[in-house]
Amino acid sequence: MREQLAKIVEQALEQLKGVGDSAALEQLRVRIMGKKGELTAILRGMGQLSPQERPAMGQLVNEARRKLEEAIESCGQRLQQAEKEARLAREAIDVTLPGRERALGSLHPMNIVLEDLLEIFTGMGFEVVEGPEVEYDHYNFELLNLPKNHPARDAQDTFYIDDNIVLRTHTSPVQARIMTTRKPPIRIVCPGRVYRADEVDATHSPVFHQIEGLVIDEHISIGDLKGTLDTFAQRLYGEGVVTRFRPSFFPFTEPSAEVDLTCANCHGKGCKMCKGTGWIEVLGSGMVNPKVLDMCGIDSKRYTGFAFGMGIERLAILRYNVPDMRYLYENDLRFLRQFR
Ligand code: DAH
Repeated sequence: MREQLAKIVEQALEQLKGVGDSAALEQLRVRIMGKKGELTAILRGMGQLSPQERPAMGQLVNEARRKLEEAIESCGQRLQQAEKEARLAREAIDVTLPGRERALGSLHPMNIVLEDLLEIFTGMGFEVVEGPEVEYDHYNFELLNLPKNHPARDAQDTFYIDDNIVLRTHTSPVQARIMTTRKPPIRIVCPGRVYRADEVDATHSPVFHQIEGLVIDEHISIGDLKGTLDTFAQRLYGEGVVTRFRPSFFPFTEPSAEVDLTCANCHGKGCKMCKGTGWIEVLGSGMVNPKVLDMCGIDSKRYTGFAFGMGIERLAILRYNVPDMRYLYENDLRFLRQFR
């Protein structure tokens, strides 16, 4: 029995050295000290010993058990420590590594210009409104004094969806929508996409952007139009820039004017950009035609108003000296990165 006990202890201690993880350790513990374990079997066998032998043997067994328990305990601690160290090594973060750089995006030049325009006009008390790009002929043409077969319709090569629905050819229909639904005073700007059946080239695109302005109240005069556009021109291009009105024709305004701004490139001296004239043509405008006011349900005896419209691409091209309008649409990063 003594020999057996010594063998169990010796073997167990030997095996403990080779135990590699907590599960294996637990297995070993159960095999020796569990209910059906080797050591437990010896304890059971004690009953067959004579009363004289029992105390000495009991002491030996207890000693052996204590020794094994200690050994198992310290092996467990060793394993836990090793497992913890392995986990820490696995999860270690090197805070000295350089971070991953996130590429920063930037605004598209069209958006830069649009944001400037909206800031200028909202700063002057205008409200921003939008309208649909698929528009009724009624708003795009009829209410703007462009009845069917009117020759001025030819100036805008229209994409027709059907007889009554078009892709809007300008942002002016938003004026008509607002006039038919609101009472003066009205002071709005309407930015958005417009469509014309044009071939693509350096200065044309079938899809482009406009911003429309409309002011209606009692006693609005052409002086208000001029003052508003002068202020706009200076906020956009700087002090000293003024507007020049040239008589023109739009069915929805009377009188109408094409408006030029002092060339911001040469300050009016004449350069390549303004083709030597010192002026850059940027918008169409005029006093809202009384016929349009009445058709839209606004009393033209009491109210007057002015309106204007301009192409946003043109403003962007002028500001950034872009040689070809297509650069604005192609999303070539080499072009776009210049606007950071
Ligand atoms: N709708 C015109 C165009 O697309 C621009 C325009 C001219 C708008 C005069 C206006 C205006 O509001 O009064 O060419």
